[in-house]
Amino acid sequence: MNILESGTFIEELKALSQLLGGSFQSYDKSAVMKLDNEKGYGEVKAYEFLPGFQLKVYDIELTEELRFIKDDPSHQPLYLLYSLKGQVEHQFQSEEETNLIKPMHNVILSTSESDKSEVTIPSDTPIKLSVIFIDQKQLQRTQQGESIRLAIKRITDELDEKASFKYIGDFTPETSVFATQLLNLKRNDIIGRLMLEANVYNIIASQLDDHLRNQDNPDQNESPLSKDELYEIINLYDYIRENLELEHTIKELALESGLTAKKLQIGFGYLYGSSVNNFVQYLRLERAKTLLIEDELSISEIVYEIGFSSKSYLSKLFRERYQMSPSDYRSQYKRKKLIFELNYTSRANKTMDEKAINEIVEKSRENNAKFGITGCLVYYQDSFYQILEGERRDILQLYDNILKDERHNQVSLLWKGDKSVRLFKDWSLGYISPTGSFRNKLIDYDLDLDVNELLSYDLTSSKSTKVFWLQIRRMIKAAKKEDKK
Ligand SMILES: Cc1cc2nc3c(=O)[nH]c(=O)nc-3n(C[C@H](O)[C@H](O)[C@H](O)COP(=O)(O)O)c2cc1C
Repeated sequence: MNILESGTFIEELKALSQLLGGSFQSYDKSAVMKLDNEKGYGEVKAYEFLPGFQLKVYDIELTEELRFIKDDPSHQPLYLLYSLKGQVEHQFQSEEETNLIKPMHNVILSTSESDKSEVTIPSDTPIKLSVIFIDQKQLQRTQQGESIRLAIKRITDELDEKASFKYIGDFTPETSVFATQLLNLKRNDIIGRLMLEANVYNIIASQLDDHLRNQDNPDQNESPLSKDELYEIINLYDYIRENLELEHTIKELALESGLTAKKLQIGFGYLYGSSVNNFVQYLRLERAKTLLIEDELSISEIVYEIGFSSKSYLSKLFRERYQMSPSDYRSQYKRKKLIFELNYTSRANKTMDEKAINEIVEKSRENNAKFGITGCLVYYQDSFYQILEGERRDILQLYDNILKDERHNQVSLLWKGDKSVRLFKDWSLGYISPTGSFRNKLIDYDLDLDVNELLSYDLTSSKSTKVFWLQIRRMIKAAKKEDKK
């Protein structure tokens, strides 16, 4: 069995990736671990929204049991747990009894000062789990944390310093709608971040609401269908999303789920506020929107992908829902001319002299200019940092090439996503040399800038770029200190 001790979610994730041999990438206040080896498969993401407000999302299957030991200091933070798939065990060390975190059950926990919590993720079981951490004491220090702090007040007011708290709630399928969206979210850009935060707030609201309802009226069961039946409806959601190209008649969905047509309609109404057909149509149109933005398929290909019968049918429904045609939607998005940015860091395989670096820089400038790619490369103390900006497709293709380049290793993605302005407008590749001078060949002469001045550049563009420069500045400062010794 693997055992992990506690830290912030991002620290824990780093430790987990070391323990399991997964790849770990962190960007600003978030991190992702990807795993694909004999220890398991899947990914875990961690976010810190505010000090004292964090999220971890598991979508993973492990070959060996994993145990977390959480030892929270005196703050008595709350943990809101919600499993979409797979059962996870929890135990307070002060208690004999194990608490089961069953799929789609609302679980809220808080460990007292003298107690510890153990959470066990079983082996050979697909786990989809969201864990929200709220520490009211830390949140008190920020104004933004006020609304969450007030929302959990009813629970935190009643916490007893000496006893741990648990609420093992009932089946709450309402929360699954948001948890599913959270787990399926693929967007990495700022819009993706907003969607993520919106889902986290919805999950919190939904879990707290269930707790409140249960306290006020413990015997109440509002659901029109049984638990098993609601499970089936939720499984159908996944099934439809993964098979949008199929026709999906009510008859077929009833057969797939083993429910009657009437129960299907009641269940979809209860969980998603929609009739079955409308909901399927909604999923198809949302997928069409994503594909239009990605700009890799023609509209006819999209029609096929989402299982519509013709272009005109897609146009009609698209217009009804979004008040514009699919092609207008695509061109409007393109007109906004969002720039795709990708930042990574890597280690040189061996220390590079100026000639070796020049080879990379010269070749890159030539190639980048052809594709309208701009950016900047920093080489300092055997590490590379690079920002690339341009068309999404070109940047991803280039990054694929860079990943294969044998001159460096440990390539770690810092960030990728859309932004509206290019930072390096005229620079097919700016370069900061090991001595700290900055050269840009596109202007006719070499520019020697004071690196410190450059690095205090007021960056108003993407947050990622700011972080990038901060990292470089930190790196150079640390190296300068070393030099002085
Ligand atoms: C740290 C590093 C950064 C690089 N940056 C770029 C770049 O910005 N543009 C580029 O075309 N190649 C870059 N390369 C080189 C690519 O890995 C690859 O060798 C090159 O794109 C191949 O070009 P070719 O197909 O024209 O020979 C970089 C390589 C390294 C090691």
